[in-house]
Amino acid sequence: MRPRGARRRAVVRRRHRGGPPTGRGGRPVARRSGRAGEGCRPGTRRRPRRGAGPGGHARPARSRRGARPRSGSGALAPLAPRARGPGRPRRRHRPRGGGGVSVAELEPGLLDRVRARLADRPGELTPHRVAEALREAGRPVGDATVLSVYESLRRDVVGAGPLEPLLRLPGVTDVLVNGPDHVYVDRGEGLEPTSVRFPDDAAVRRLAQRLAALAGRRLDDAAPFADLRLPDGSRFHAVLAPVARPGTTISLRVPAARALRLDDLVAAGSLSGPGAELLRALVASRAAFLVSGGTGGGKTTLLAALLSIVEPAERLVLVEDASELRPDHPHVVGLEGRPANVEGAGAIDLRVLVRQALRMRPDRLVVGEVRGGEVVELLAALNTGHEGGCGTIHANSASAVPARVEALALAAGLDRAAVHSQLASGLAVVLHVARGRDGVRRLAEVGVLDRGTDGLVTVVPAVTAGADGGLHEGPGAGALAEVLAR
Ligand SMILES: Nc1ncnc2c1ncn2[C@@H]1O[C@H](COP(=O)(O)OP(=O)(O)OP(=O)(O)O)[C@@H](O)[C@H]1O
Ligand SMILES: [Mg+2]
Repeated sequence: MRPRGARRRAVVRRRHRGGPPTGRGGRPVARRSGRAGEGCRPGTRRRPRRGAGPGGHARPARSRRGARPRSGSGALAPLAPRARGPGRPRRRHRPRGGGGVSVAELEPGLLDRVRARLADRPGELTPHRVAEALREAGRPVGDATVLSVYESLRRDVVGAGPLEPLLRLPGVTDVLVNGPDHVYVDRGEGLEPTSVRFPDDAAVRRLAQRLAALAGRRLDDAAPFADLRLPDGSRFHAVLAPVARPGTTISLRVPAARALRLDDLVAAGSLSGPGAELLRALVASRAAFLVSGGTGGGKTTLLAALLSIVEPAERLVLVEDASELRPDHPHVVGLEGRPANVEGAGAIDLRVLVRQALRMRPDRLVVGEVRGGEVVELLAALNTGHEGGCGTIHANSASAVPARVEALALAAGLDRAAVHSQLASGLAVVLHVARGRDGVRRLAEVGVLDRGTDGLVTVVPAVTAGADGGLHEGPGAGALAEVLAR
């Protein structure tokens, strides 16, 4: 127990620096801990519990009163409760013996001093060295505090810092940081706010820069955004403040633990059995197709699943901005674009890579995401004997795909008539994926391309998936059957 006077001083200090509201006995009622580096402020914890790990991290806090976290998901603690029950949180006893002070309660600047001392004498970060540095900084503390500071510093230098527990949540697909105070996850049911907080925007910035550096990319005021793949396969995008508001933003796309195959998609309700058969026939026909859909709709995942059922004897050449596709196929070559270096040189865009890919004897040319001038090279390839080409494209519906391709190609210098004539003869099918209200990503429509008397291409629905998951034939069903029979 700290003496009453010390406790009162801590409360005053917290109030003085705009800290959280305090409850009876000067205890923070919610949401604060961690002031170190990228250290988080997991909000649902009030005090480190006796027997808890560093800073009380070992045990997940209850998301609402009386509700236990799901077993095996210890990382649920950082999720904000969806609904807060009435009543005061239960009182907890402070751990006894040995100065169990959380990182938030350390005097301001102490952590920076400890960090500086550790940096003076480089070496492995260990609790022992942290204890030494704390002592040298004039702050002898107990074991619990040492471990709490150690844990906070460790998060500063490894992994995704305070986002780590979120990334480990079962089923998480996206982790989004909008400045220091707004962190969200998507676990398949839309965005959920979490109680993870960063001390300030500088901490978010440090994390973003460290993750960008892992992939050898620069991220600073001169190059304030980065889009890349991390070594663990996650896709990372960041924009630094003040370009981004309300602060530095980080968007992490977490890859599935293993590549989803068509059968997995059927099991997940994303595809019906007959839908999967149709897609198998499409891949076997070697007809060119695009997977369309909204952001995060499952385009890349479906494309990877389809590439995984391509004949093993075929050679896949993938062209991507940030390499994401991981088809389960024995013969895959990937080409990845890159931005310019510090001197502004060395940028490689997808147009160049598509041209290179064509010289690499691809059996299937795959453009991971068509979003710029590379559409011109892709259309040219599809019209010059490169069968089985495919890729993904952002579009709100299958019928919007020709207009989207047209817009990209016009911007890259192709005229409208040329776009539509190349689309008509090069591309055969559009697979549209959409995310239902239940959060499930589904194949919503299969459309075939049709060129009208005006020379313009439209997408005609051949098969649409009903709310029951069953397939319903549309006016393009006959044309689709012809494509599949080729
Ligand atoms: N059918 C599915 N069932 C379960 N999870 C899925 C399914 N499809 C995709 N996912 C997951 O959803 C996330 C987004 O999927 P994916 O990257 O394929 O979307 P996308 O449409 O390509 O996104 P973007 O627009 O950002 O390119 C990934 O984490 C992926 O593992
Ligand atoms: Mg994608």
